[in-house]
Amino acid sequence: MIEGLKKEVKHLLSRERWEHTQRVVEMAGQLLANHRYPLDPQRVQTAALLHDCAKDLSLSGQLKKAGDFGIVLTSSDLLCPQTLHGPVGAGMARHMFGIVDRDILQAIALHTTGGPRMTALAKIIFVADYVEPGRHFLGVDKLRTLAEQNLDEAVLACMNHSLAYLLRRGNLIHRRMIAARNYLLAIKLYPGSREEG
Ligand SMILES: [Fe+2]
Ligand SMILES: [Fe+2]
Repeated sequence: MIEGLKKEVKHLLSRERWEHTQRVVEMAGQLLANHRYPLDPQRVQTAALLHDCAKDLSLSGQLKKAGDFGIVLTSSDLLCPQTLHGPVGAGMARHMFGIVDRDILQAIALHTTGGPRMTALAKIIFVADYVEPGRHFLGVDKLRTLAEQNLDEAVLACMNHSLAYLLRRGNLIHRRMIAARNYLLAIKLYPGSREEG
């Protein structure tokens, strides 16, 4: 199944995006092996392979797909269109590739912003996408080391890094990203708390 999926996804992506996708597959596999989550490696590979399947569509193409798949877009989705390929990619995975595994779909949908109540699979994809070896930015080595040590801390640190970047540039921030960070941070600071997502 994975080999067939690889061929189909490759056709949807630019060369650079396909290379990035392969690195995310590799990195996600490493994180899974490191942290020994009881997850089927094939599910991790599937989510990693498909995570950017919508990214090379034009914005109008992504909006059209969102309409076709009945994806309800929020004002944040429209104000932060660079995040749209997450939910649209999950729609493509569901409707074009027949993926029904909810955790795989969640991991694809949330890989750009994160979200409250991320599964281990979603965390692995989020972090693998952020620190795969093709990423070159100040602080990435520290994030990679953290990713090997503590996945939850790595998710938070990647979110902090991403938010700091968006703030520096004066960009809009998707509210799901704020909610995701609040959720993770509340659990960390106040174990047992039930931060609303
Ligand atoms: Fe992406
Ligand atoms: Fe990506």
